Amino acid sequence: MIAKLKIFRYDPQKDEKPYYQTFEVDADPMDRLLDCLNRIRWEQDSTLSYRWSCGHGICGSDGMRINGIAGLPCQKLVRDFKEEILIEPLQVFGVVKDLIVDLNPFFERYHSIRPYLITKMSLPEEERKQSPEEQHLLEEAIRCILCACCTASCPINQAKETKNYIGPAALVRAFRYLFDSRDQALEERIALLDHKDGAWGCQTLWQCTEVCPKEIPVTKEIGQIKKCIYDVKHSKK
Ligand code: SF4
Ligand code: FES
Repeated sequence: MIAKLKIFRYDPQKDEKPYYQTFEVDADPMDRLLDCLNRIRWEQDSTLSYRWSCGHGICGSDGMRINGIAGLPCQKLVRDFKEEILIEPLQVFGVVKDLIVDLNPFFERYHSIRPYLITKMSLPEEERKQSPEEQHLLEEAIRCILCACCTASCPINQAKETKNYIGPAALVRAFRYLFDSRDQALEERIALLDHKDGAWGCQTLWQCTEVCPKEIPVTKEIGQIKKCIYDVKHSKK
C-alpha cells in the first residue's frame, strides 16, 4: 500500500516560516509510522529531522503529533490509517528543526521534583527491599518513558498564563517517589508540589491519561498526590 505522510517542516536556520511537505511511501500494512519516516529520510529526503532510538516504545524519544494527537510513531501501524497522515512536532515546546522540539524545559521541571530516592538510612548490605504490595503501588508510574506526550497535550501547559505548571510527566515521577516505601523525604517533596504550578496546577482535564502510550493513569496519580498533600497538611492541625 502507499502511505501518504504530510509532515511539518521547519528549519529556523533557513526557513522564514514552517510549511508542510507531503511524501508517499511504499509500505506494508504492518509497517510502523516510524518505518515510513525512516524510509523517507533514507530514500527521499535526508534532511528530515526527528528523534528516535529504540523503535519499540522504550526510549520515549520519538514523541510527536500524529493526526493531531501526541503519540509514538514506533507504536502506530500504517494499516490503522486510511487517509493522509498528518505528522507534526509536539505542542508546548519550541521547534528545533522539523519534528525535533526543545525538551530542556521539560527536563528542568522533571529535575525540579528531585527524581531520585532520598533517604538518611545507611547503605544496606544488599538492595533496599520492598514488599510486593509496596512495589505494586508504583508499578504503573515506573512505566513512564519520559516521552513528554502528556505534558505536550495538557491544556494547562499549552495556555500562556499557566505555562509554568510543572506538568503531568513531572507529577507522575513525583508520585513514584512520594509513595515509595523507601523514600524519607515526604515533607520536602510535599513542599515542592504544594503550589499552583505544582500538583494544584492540574485541573483534571484527562488529556494526559488519554495520550499516554504506556497507559499510565496519569490523572488518577496526580489526584493521589493532591490527596496526600491534603492529608499530610491536615494531620498536622
Ligand atoms: Fe509519556 Fe506517559 Fe510518561 Fe507522560 S506519563 S511522559 S505520556 S510515558
Ligand atoms: Fe523509542 Fe519510539 S523510538 S519509544
